[in-house]
Amino acid sequence: MPLLEVEGLVKRFVQRRPLQPTVEVRAVNDVSFTVGEGESFGLVGESGSGKTTAARCILRLTTPTAGEIRFDGEAIGSMSRHRLRALRRAIQPVFQDPYESLNPRLPVGESVAEPLVVHRIGTAANRQTRVEELLHQVGLDPAHLGRRPGELSGGQRQRIALARALALGPRLVVLDEPVSALDASVGAQIVNLLMRFQRDLNLALLFITHDLRLVRHMTARVAVMRAGLIVETAATSAVFAAPRHPYTRTLLAAATGSSAEESEASDAGVMEDEASPLREVAPGHWARV
Ligand SMILES: Nc1ncnc2c1ncn2[C@@H]1O[C@H](COP(=O)(O)OP(=O)(O)OP(=O)(O)O)[C@@H](O)[C@H]1O
Ligand SMILES: [Mg+2]
Repeated sequence: MPLLEVEGLVKRFVQRRPLQPTVEVRAVNDVSFTVGEGESFGLVGESGSGKTTAARCILRLTTPTAGEIRFDGEAIGSMSRHRLRALRRAIQPVFQDPYESLNPRLPVGESVAEPLVVHRIGTAANRQTRVEELLHQVGLDPAHLGRRPGELSGGQRQRIALARALALGPRLVVLDEPVSALDASVGAQIVNLLMRFQRDLNLALLFITHDLRLVRHMTARVAVMRAGLIVETAATSAVFAAPRHPYTRTLLAAATGSSAEESEASDAGVMEDEASPLREVAPGHWARV
């Protein structure tokens, strides 16, 4: 059984704008995928394709319009408060901007300790030890514990966010553009840390990014999203070696700097995707073609 199962996920938003007709945005439109225990799964696609919305549904930061999300076989939409509490330990987020998870007024040591306090884990003394150990794991000196987020570099802040995410021993970390605000070399260090944790802690990663090089480097399987739909999903190596959907080819061409055969999400292309279900074009390789 996969660790995370997303089945028929739909999330619509009603956008009310002054002096303009109210429109319904189908941010996520029937998305299904799974992430295995200890697996690194990539979610890619252009801006506005619904990646963050899907992640927020999985993290239960928002309620889906339809569909089901199961963790360890259990539907998260119908969990008791007790089970949800356990879920909040098992799935941890890391966002692009660590300020979303770090309180700017708190010394970062307190931010890392906070999940332990909230979940009443350990005594004050052994929480301190655990926090130092977590800092060591993410390659930071305990001297940083007393600093506030604003006194750290972007890379150091993201390491702190990672330490906080790891504090409760999660089984899945949902990473939404975790390194895209960082310089390439700093981002590469964070990526290497993540891959080490994935391997050493058997951590599953749901990795959301625009950066196809990162996907290729980090993930075993990938789903390509456009306009709320998965247009292609397969083993990452298969998608890179033999992309089947025109949109995937365009993305890959743009990433490698070669000329694209066709571009942008035209309305016609999106309507075609809606009309064509995902087909298995090769074993384990699905595309809307
Ligand atoms: N709270 C909201 N209210 C209304 N519309 C929203 C809301 N959140 C997202 N949307 C819309 O849903 C669509 C998907 O947005 P989402 O943020 O999930 O895309 P994304 O793939 O994460 O994009 P990016 O790569 O830019 O982060 C967009 O059209 C967006 O404007
Ligand atoms: Mg996003």
